Amino acid sequence: MADFPLFPVPPKLKELIMSLNAEQIMLVQSSFAKVKPISDQAAALFYARLFEIAPQVKPMFKGDMVEQGRKLMAMLNTVVNGLNNLQAIVPAAQNLARGHVGYGVRSEHYAYVGSALLYALEQGLGKDFTPAVKQAWSDAYGLLSGVMIAAAEQVESRSAA
Ligand code: HEM
Repeated sequence: MADFPLFPVPPKLKELIMSLNAEQIMLVQSSFAKVKPISDQAAALFYARLFEIAPQVKPMFKGDMVEQGRKLMAMLNTVVNGLNNLQAIVPAAQNLARGHVGYGVRSEHYAYVGSALLYALEQGLGKDFTPAVKQAWSDAYGLLSGVMIAAAEQVESRSAA
């Protein structure tokens, strides 16, 4: 793995990154392609579910939610396309995470987002949301959120120092 300019990636995370195999990457990419044509609806499902399971995060969202949903789906698109080239997406994910600290996002919020994401995918994909697709997304989100949480924690500990 190449080194990442913004923050060093902890060894545990490197293991996680290496654990996503080619088959899983293919499953994430092919299932995301099926969601893309309905991405506005998928994003709406995602936020509805997120605010249902974590109502405390709702006040952090100040803008238009359709626009917000498009930003989320665009970022997911970048990440999904970049799964074969993690060196390119890890710095972007780290930057995104640093911005999120400013929105009030904390490590514990990532699990809610992961759960809402899997829910939206399940609704959007129907029978194509097979156990293997679910596991692949779970692992991919674990990887992405792991990178983001590690970067955010470094920002938090620096500003606390
Ligand atoms: C994989 C994880 C995530 C991705 C890909 C993602 C993506 C994005 C993107 C692309 C934006 C647009 C603005 C920007 O670029 O900073 C954004 C904003 C935001 N995200 Fe996330 N996010 C993630 C996790 C989270 C989590 C865990 C929370 C916690 C609830 C969260 C809450 C927010 C908030 C509050 C905003 C700003 C909304 C506003 O300006 O009104 N995000 N996110």
